[in-house]
Amino acid sequence: MAQGTEMHICLGSSCFSRGNKEVVNFIRDYLKRNHLEDKVVFKGARCMGHCSNGPNLLINGSITEEVTLARIENILEKELSKIK
Ligand code: FES
Repeated sequence: MAQGTEMHICLGSSCFSRGNKEVVNFIRDYLKRNHLEDKVVFKGARCMGHCSNGPNLLINGSITEEVTLARIENILEKELSKIK
C-alpha cells in the first residue's frame, strides 16, 4: 500500500490542549526526513469524538489514541514501515 496512506490528526480543542500541535510538527518533520511527503497524505480533522483519549490520529481509517510526543515516533515507524 505505498500510495494512498492517509493520516488525519484531530485538531479539535481537546486534542489541542493535549498537545496535538507538537505532534503535528513532529509528523511533518518525520515525513520530510524520511521522504514520505509524496506517499502520505497528512491532514487536519475535526473532533473524532474520542476527546478524553486524545490526541487522536486516524491512519487509513483507524483511530490511534493517546498520540503523544513520546509515542508518535514508534507509531509512525510501525505504521509506515511498509512504505519506507
Ligand atoms: S477534540 Fe480530538 S477527538 Fe475530540
